[in-house]
Formats: sequence, C-alpha cells, structure tokens
Amino acid sequence: KTPDNWLPRDPRLIRLTGVHPFNVEAPLSDLYNEGFLTSPELFYVRNHGHVPQVRDEDIPDWEFTVEGMVEQPLKLTLRDLLEQYEQHTYPITLVCAGNRRKEQNVVRKTKGFSWGAAGVSTALFTGVVMGDLLRKAKPKRGARYVCMEGADKLPNGYYGTSVKLNWVMDPNRGMMLAHMMNGEMLRPDHGKPLRAVIPGQIGGRSVKWLKRIILTNEPSDNWYHIYDNRVLPTSVSPEESANDPKWWMDERYAIYDLSTNSAIAYPAHEEQLGLVGAPEKYRVKGYAYGGGGRRVTRAEVSLDKGKTWRLAKIDYAEDRYRESGPRQLYGGTVDMEWRESSFCWCFWNIDIPVSELAETSDLFIRAMDESMNIQPRDMYWSVLGMMNNPWYRVTISREN
Ligand code: MTE
Repeated sequence: KTPDNWLPRDPRLIRLTGVHPFNVEAPLSDLYNEGFLTSPELFYVRNHGHVPQVRDEDIPDWEFTVEGMVEQPLKLTLRDLLEQYEQHTYPITLVCAGNRRKEQNVVRKTKGFSWGAAGVSTALFTGVVMGDLLRKAKPKRGARYVCMEGADKLPNGYYGTSVKLNWVMDPNRGMMLAHMMNGEMLRPDHGKPLRAVIPGQIGGRSVKWLKRIILTNEPSDNWYHIYDNRVLPTSVSPEESANDPKWWMDERYAIYDLSTNSAIAYPAHEEQLGLVGAPEKYRVKGYAYGGGGRRVTRAEVSLDKGKTWRLAKIDYAEDRYRESGPRQLYGGTVDMEWRESSFCWCFWNIDIPVSELAETSDLFIRAMDESMNIQPRDMYWSVLGMMNNPWYRVTISREN
C-alpha cells in the first residue's frame, strides 16, 4: 500500500523506482507512436514523493501566493486566476533532466535512477502567462529570482526551485501557470490543480501542485533546488559530492535550458530486423529537441560510427498542428497560440536501403539546433547523471 493508491495508472508505463514514489516512462516506441501530443496516460511522470490529493469540489478554492520582493503581495485562488487573467494555450515539451541517464549508469553508476529515452512528453498547456501575474504583484527593485514551492511535503521540505525573474518577464520564454493539459484539468500526477510550466528548460523547474511564488534577490535555498538538477564537474565522485557541500552551493552548476538531444525510436535497441523479404528501404525514425526555445535544424544519422553522416528529414509537427486550427481533444476543443520560439520536440526520419542496414551493426543519430549547438560524440558523466546528450546509438541484429 502506497500513499498514491487512490490513483489509476496505465499498465504500459515502465516503473523506474519501485513502487513509490511514482517515476515512469512509456516504452519509447509507444511514446513515438503517440505523435506530437502525448496522451496523459503515457506522459512521463517524475514525482519526488506522494501526490497531493485534491477533491474536485475544492479545486476552485486552491490557494497560492505571490510574496517576497513585491510591492503588492497576492493571495489568489484558482478561481481568481481563471476570472481575472487572460488564458493562453501553448504546446510545450517537458523533459526530465535525467532523460537518457541509463546510458550513464552503464558507464559508471550515478546517484540517479535509470531513465531510458522516454523521459520526455508534449502537451498543450492552458493557463496564465506568469509575467502577467508578476506585473500585478509589481516586483521590487533588486528582485532577481522567482522561487516556486509545491504542496508535496518531502523528507527535506516542500519541493521547490527558482528561475530568473527576467526570463519570467520575457513573453518569448512563455513561462506559465497551467491548470489544464490537452484541454482537460491537469491529472494528479502532473500537478492538479495548478503547476508552473517552464518551456525550454528542464522539467525540474516546472513545479507541480504550486502553492507559493516568492521573489528574491538570490536563487532558491530549497533543498531540492540545491541538491537536485545540477551537473557537477565530471571529476566529482559520489563520495566527494556527499562530503563536500561546496559542490552543491555553486549555482553555476544548476541546469536551466535543455541541451540539444535526440533518440531513435525505430528500430528499437537490439531489435531484430527481419530484413529478408522486407521492402527495399527501412524507415529509421525518432525525435529531437533543443533547449531554451531554440529549434532543431538538423538531424543526422550515421551507419559507420560517425565517420559519415546522412541528413534526415525533419517534421515540425508543431507547425502542422498550429496551421490546422482548433481541434477536439480529450477535454474539449483547444486552439493554440504561437510564439517565435520553439518549445516542442520534432520528429525526424530517413529511409535507409535494407542492403546497407544489413551491413551495419549500429545506428547513430545526432541533432543540431539553430545556434549550431550539436550533440557531442562523448558523454559528460556527472554524479547526478543529468543532461546526457551524446550521439544516441541503437545496435541492431538481423534475423538468421
Ligand atoms: N514539482 C513538485 N512539486 N514535486 C516534484 O516532485 N518534480 C519535478 C517537476 N516538478 C516535481 C515537481 C521534476 S524533476 C520534473 S522532471 C517534472 O516535475 C515532471 O513533470 P511531470 O511528472 O508532469 O512529467
């Protein structure tokens, strides 16, 4: 029996941390097959503890505050947020900083559990642009950080973190407080009834079950801000990091923007390709994403361990989706808005002659973004195992 026993969850999800807390990803091929928007059933979940339980009748009265370095502290309910602020809907891809950590754990055990490459999902998030709310609260001179705190009480206090105030005030960064996902109320695992959504940055900044927003002149001093979501220098061992707090106190190691990343969904790792009698070409395909609102502009596949690369086609599903207008989703009809920046994953594919696939034992993918940030060949190992983004490899085996 766990504290989350009241929650129904999809049996297809792969549990990464035993029974509790709930940390899951979908099988990569299932995630890919979902397409641009991930259904709530298969959306990855990263919970540090139990899910706060909120009765439906109490949702409008969910209270949260804006406090700290503001001229006008606010105490609002979700009802106020809906009635007093303009609502927006944006497509946003969330990614856990631990996505692809499994590959690092194989090289050397990190302190984190083994995510495959499906710690990433996309939804249409509806809510209020956080900058609109903060303008009402009037940040004081000298305020530089927006700290956020959730309602989940954990062994080291409530989950919390911070982002920079100037990012929150930048409309192109699109940071929001969301209450709906794909046209329906957020599901409990994803922050029901209210969460922050910080596009283009690691999922760890998107605080769920949001209760407090605190403006400060220093980054958050929350335990989870300091001891989680950091890339320490690669030389720092698990023992050293445990004994010397100086490594954690250095805000320069905190992760914000995502790094450029990609993965191959088809073929699956170690999939047996039945090439005999198959069509002449096999379609290799997968996803890619950039960080900080930067669009992926290139995806390349190698059949010879990186000696040569071929250019894959990119499908910006986000653009097609936007052009097709409002549509019926699980929770209702949803129309989305559009921003200059891109906060969504894209898909890539390339047709490889079966005769060439038959000659190789592995396939690599790498992506590049509009600032020419390219995935590196080598892994950067660090003690928490985060932001892993070297070329993604699948090995293939052939039948007979
Ligand atoms: N917010 C709270 N309150 N508690 C949490 O455990 N986990 C964070 C973030 N926000 C977390 C949280 C992490 S590490 C990630 S990756 C995202 O939520 C995951 O969001 P999801 O479970 O909706 O996919």
